Amino acid sequence: MATGEHDPRIPPPFQQAERVLRFGDQSIDVLANELGTPYYAYDRAAIEARVQALRRHLPQRVRLSYAVKANPMPALVNFLASRVDGLDVASAGEAERALASAMTPSAISFAGPGKRDSEIAQAVHSGITIGLESRRQIDTVAAEAREQGKTPRVSLRLNPDFRVKGSGMHMGGGPQPFGVDVEQAPEFLRTIHDEGLHLAGIHIFAGSQNLRASVIAEAQRRSLDLALELTHELSHAPEFINIGGGFGIPYFPGDVPLDLATVGKHLHALDEELAAASPDTHLVVELGRYIVGEAGVYVTRVIDRKISRGQVYLITDGGMHHHLAASGNLGQVLRKNYPVAIGNRLDERAEERVTIAGPLCTPLDVLADRVFLPRAEVGDLVVVFQSGAYGLTASPTGFLGHPPPQEILV
Ligand SMILES: Cc1ncc(COP(=O)(O)O)c(C=O)c1O
Repeated sequence: MATGEHDPRIPPPFQQAERVLRFGDQSIDVLANELGTPYYAYDRAAIEARVQALRRHLPQRVRLSYAVKANPMPALVNFLASRVDGLDVASAGEAERALASAMTPSAISFAGPGKRDSEIAQAVHSGITIGLESRRQIDTVAAEAREQGKTPRVSLRLNPDFRVKGSGMHMGGGPQPFGVDVEQAPEFLRTIHDEGLHLAGIHIFAGSQNLRASVIAEAQRRSLDLALELTHELSHAPEFINIGGGFGIPYFPGDVPLDLATVGKHLHALDEELAAASPDTHLVVELGRYIVGEAGVYVTRVIDRKISRGQVYLITDGGMHHHLAASGNLGQVLRKNYPVAIGNRLDERAEERVTIAGPLCTPLDVLADRVFLPRAEVGDLVVVFQSGAYGLTASPTGFLGHPPPQEILV
């Protein structure tokens, strides 16, 4: 590939390829020497650009919340805290990171089907907004509120009566451990009221990793309708209706990036409708991977090269214990390769088909299966793109006792 030419193996925002992949204002080989390998690197400029694109397309009244579960690296959470309107956390550990950032506690929301008593006590104490997902959660929050003499801010998470087609993961519709079935919601709302908790909002998160704007728009419309129907009967208008997110990113050949302009257009219509029906209520859109997924790479070094019955294997010092998703073992039904490159040979033509396997003693530890790449040698750097979300945080780092990777925000 000629210098500067766009290589289809290299997804945006890394189009200006030279021989060595540049990342922010750094080269991946310099970072490899400084940090050691393997490592994850996340590009601030790419994250910033993504937030700005969202701000451009989404209505001004819509609040943007970052789902910390996608990437809880403290420096990245701190960076985003001053750029988004809220942080969504899924455990006391994530809450601690969010509370250590510049985000106001009330703009931190706590979701999850299983909240320990100690987590609820910490949430009540810190003043974050607790997403209620069961009768027991309501009772525990109410007991804790009495104990601490506080009025907690809460939201009710609904399990809607519809499913979002084309989502990588479904979190709503049918039986679910998440949220309360919408049929039971009126009763739960009465209990929340009777217990004296402050109902700040309604939360619906129907699914994740969706690339179809029309499907997302339809899910958002149905979520808003559902929430409005319920909130009609409340004594006060809720401050927010969180209609989830599910904005996907392209991982595999044939994946077409989400048409954000179309999602934005539909959201403008919904927002106007909401402003007319309930002027003090605003929409929240909650996103993880769309904000950080494309801004991160995982870099691992080739430590061996071997041929088994004609198949070339590059063995790397990193693998599924750091990047379960790229190995295809995080919810993929049919294994597909994440986009990869030999990051220090971007100017060379692809000439061989190789399988990139990690150091673990399991056939599951494959980062890329029979991909066409330039010839790589021991010492070269394999780059796995689209690795900013659900990378390290979703990986079994303890498996087989190899050291953890470094992480850097550049
Ligand atoms: C409640 C909730 N919010 C937000 C997210 C983030 O999803 P994504 O990273 O796909 O945007 C998830 C994903 O599982 C979730 O369960």
